[in-house]
Amino acid sequence: MKPVGIVGTGSYVPEKILTNAELEKMVDTSDEWIRTRTGIRERHIVDEKTATSDLAVEAAKRALEEANLKGKDVELTIVATITPDMFFPSTACLVQDRIGAGGHAAFDISAACSGFVYALACAYHLVGNHAFKNALVIGAETLSKFTDWEDRNTCVLLADGAGAVVLESLETGRGILNFSLGADGGSGDLLYMPGGGSRNPASFETVENKLHYIKMKGNELFKIAVRVLVEAALEALDKCNLSGADVDHFIPHQANIRIIDATVKRLGIAKNKVHVNVDRFGNTSAASIPIALDEANRMKKLKKGDIVVLDAFGGGLTWGACVLEW
Ligand code: ACO
Repeated sequence: MKPVGIVGTGSYVPEKILTNAELEKMVDTSDEWIRTRTGIRERHIVDEKTATSDLAVEAAKRALEEANLKGKDVELTIVATITPDMFFPSTACLVQDRIGAGGHAAFDISAACSGFVYALACAYHLVGNHAFKNALVIGAETLSKFTDWEDRNTCVLLADGAGAVVLESLETGRGILNFSLGADGGSGDLLYMPGGGSRNPASFETVENKLHYIKMKGNELFKIAVRVLVEAALEALDKCNLSGADVDHFIPHQANIRIIDATVKRLGIAKNKVHVNVDRFGNTSAASIPIALDEANRMKKLKKGDIVVLDAFGGGLTWGACVLEW
């Protein structure tokens, strides 16, 4: 397979910031509890009119600009999201139209917080095997629209945003090196949204019973999260004959600072190599890794040849790690 790498990154978050102090007025919580238990200080939330594709389009435009591509040049668009604008058309089709990439392939991937890494793996193989010259891979969410703002277990964590990358075949360098992807459908009830699908189609009762909101067993997830993040990163590194000591940049899913700290400790990765923005953005699910990657890129922290590890876990349960050479 030809080497395939990231040639552009972009991200976008809505303007409105929701602080812990504001949440204190909405539910029985405190800034101190949220900061010490999660590391989150504030998060960005969309207004009523904004949908997931609106955030995705802005992130995509920024990634395309860095890649020096026009929308019409894009051959494949994949959007990872669990909060699509609607069931269908896919959010990827909506984005494809708005960036002017009409005619080319577009589809969504649903793997919750691991969605971006899953989407990257699909795009990597499709571009590497010459099915497409390039791919636009986006993680985008408006979790706030599916959050029960009376449930302190979830509303202090979830947020909105989008991140995007452009993948292309590389003439020089190695680009993406390997992946480790996994899932445990048996633990799906730890994080799910019961209403709105074919099991519980929308009805007066599903709305009244709050089935259209994200439900989470946070502390059970917490224990599994650290284990699967460590295992996925180690497996992906091992496939490249690398270890934690070789990692220059670790970009984990931004769910909780305590999960990130415990994971990097077990992986033997120094704290100054870990990119953290959960304090400013909260948990944006599939958008969290591409937003953090874009931040690291735009801060010029990533140097050519650096080893970068992306590491995610989320609803499904799902998990996925990617090792790449920048
Ligand atoms: N403010 C104040 N107290 C709270 C809050 C809050 N916002 N939320 C829960 N509590 C209380 C609980 O009710 C509990 O009280 P009790 O002991 O009287 O019962 C106490 O705090 C401790 O609750 P725990 O759930 O044990 O707290 P924990 O330290 O585990 O932190 C948290 C909770 C932050 C949810 C943590 O477990 C976590 O981050 N889990 C992982 C979440 C996650 O990453 N989700 C997956 C990805 S999201 C996706 O895929 C869309």
